[in-house]
Amino acid sequence: TVISSTALYERASEAAKFLQSHTGHTPLVGVVLGSGLGGFAAEIEQAAVIPYSEIPHFPRSTVAGHSGRLLIGTVAGTPVAVMQGRVHGYEGYSAAESTFPVRVLGMLGIKALALTNAAGGIRASYAQGDLVLLSDHINLMGVNPLTGPNDERLGQRFFDMTEAYARRLRQLAHTAANENGVALQEGVYIGVPGPSFETPAEIRAFRALGADLVGMSTVLETIAARHMGIEVLGISCVTNMAAGIQVEPLNHEEVMETGKRVEGQLAAILKSALPEIAKL
Ligand code: 6GU
Repeated sequence: TVISSTALYERASEAAKFLQSHTGHTPLVGVVLGSGLGGFAAEIEQAAVIPYSEIPHFPRSTVAGHSGRLLIGTVAGTPVAVMQGRVHGYEGYSAAESTFPVRVLGMLGIKALALTNAAGGIRASYAQGDLVLLSDHINLMGVNPLTGPNDERLGQRFFDMTEAYARRLRQLAHTAANENGVALQEGVYIGVPGPSFETPAEIRAFRALGADLVGMSTVLETIAARHMGIEVLGISCVTNMAAGIQVEPLNHEEVMETGKRVEGQLAAILKSALPEIAKL
């Protein structure tokens, strides 16, 4: 059966109203912190901290390393809504469910969304611990969050994805990285369903398709955000090289460890870039 888009709109409004009753801030920018990358949350001032489990209709994260709470406050004077942890399709959530939080942030009024993630490096010049700005993505998740009836209040049925990751935000991120002495490369992210990591043959195929990084998130959130006219910034942490490139077998502990090692650099970039990102 087709889930009505009205239900999505109404559920997201209800969640947004609930959040508005818990904070006086009107966030201009949303931030999603990926696996092992939650450290930026320590930068938030005057934060209302709301566990996902308390927000109406919000999905709950079941993955270790994703703490599952929303913080609404200010960073460098900019009102932000920061998701510490996200949900993924492999947890059993539909594309609409896993992008529900983006819908809610959109209804709170964010103009830009910074999506961070842990990813496997495909491009041979990358190394474990590198930070990579997403220049574009390839949706190989097998789903799209906009499948089903379209609610015109959220966005148009058909919409452009030419600048999925806004040039303006990429330039701001590069400037912020330079200011902080942090290296920031660029690359194309391919989103896959997971939860198994890829085979070496899959990685060779993805490289031939034009992918530089592989991960299990971000792509659907970007699509939902662009649907709502929200600008997107994407930053991956190369927590490991992908299968067949890295000799050692891949594991979640390595993903978390590398994330912890570079989350400070990521936080510095976000903090420096936020005030300009919010000027739209
Ligand atoms: Cl190698 N693959 C995928 N799909 N996700 C990852 C990863 C690899 N490394 C971190 N996240």
